[in-house]
Amino acid sequence: MSKVCSINFELNKNWTTGSQMVVSKNATQGWTQFWKGERTSFDEVMKLATTYFAGQIVKQFSLTSSRTIFDYGCGPGFLADHLAQYGISVVGADINEYFIDECRKNHPQSLFIHISTDVFETRSELDRVLAGRQFDFVVLLSIAQYFKDTNEFERVINLLASYCCPGGRIIIADVIDDNTSTYRDALGLFNQCVRNGKLIAFFKFMLFVTSSSYARVHKHAELLKIRESFIQEMCLRNSLRYEKVDGLTIHPSRTNYVLSKRS
Ligand SMILES: C[S@@+](CC[C@H](N)C(=O)[O-])C[C@H]1O[C@@H](n2cnc3c(N)ncnc32)[C@H](O)[C@@H]1O
Repeated sequence: MSKVCSINFELNKNWTTGSQMVVSKNATQGWTQFWKGERTSFDEVMKLATTYFAGQIVKQFSLTSSRTIFDYGCGPGFLADHLAQYGISVVGADINEYFIDECRKNHPQSLFIHISTDVFETRSELDRVLAGRQFDFVVLLSIAQYFKDTNEFERVINLLASYCCPGGRIIIADVIDDNTSTYRDALGLFNQCVRNGKLIAFFKFMLFVTSSSYARVHKHAELLKIRESFIQEMCLRNSLRYEKVDGLTIHPSRTNYVLSKRS
């Protein structure tokens, strides 16, 4: 997972010139199938990483229970679990039906939507279910690296911008780019695990990322890297502004962006 993703075992750099990243054909198929079928790989360390992020956004954006959050690629709902402590309710969406069922079980009062990797289908499902609802924050945490390419990523951002209320923001966190370093991220994770008394969990996690179905998929499917130059161009094309925000995730070498609509 992204926290997995957090550990970026990317060995192949496959950049084109400019800001677009080309990914091998296997990539999407591999990651999509992996995520749709995933049941067990979210573990303690991933929960720790998402909880860390949740704490950071509560602080940095002064979140209170009146704020509305849409967690796109919500996984099994760790963000919703943590924000519930502040009385903040989260609407979530994911391509993994099992995760969505988990979220619905744990948060029966909230809305969790099973979506498709096809952005057109997702748009009509979200339009149907959300029925005009808009949010203060749309969150994409540790999911950008699983899109097929930057075009698909942009289509999703364009779609999600329409669910932001006036003044609303899109937080894209844990983005992999040229500056991402496996070693720095592993160290950041290690330090956080030590601080939280989760050393054994850290080693179990390392075993998972190096010798699980995730690792097997990663041998054939690269993670999508998104450069800042692409974010800049995308924002221009979609009448959005962006800023980079440090410290939102445990991974010190990942990049976080906050997008908002241009007025
Ligand atoms: C690493 S997990 C992160 C989960 C959650 N955001 C968190 O940080 O706790 C990546 C999630 O993205 C979802 N995902 C992958 N590709 C997606 C796509 N194209 N559209 C929506 N969700 C996707 C996966 O099913 C998975 O739940």
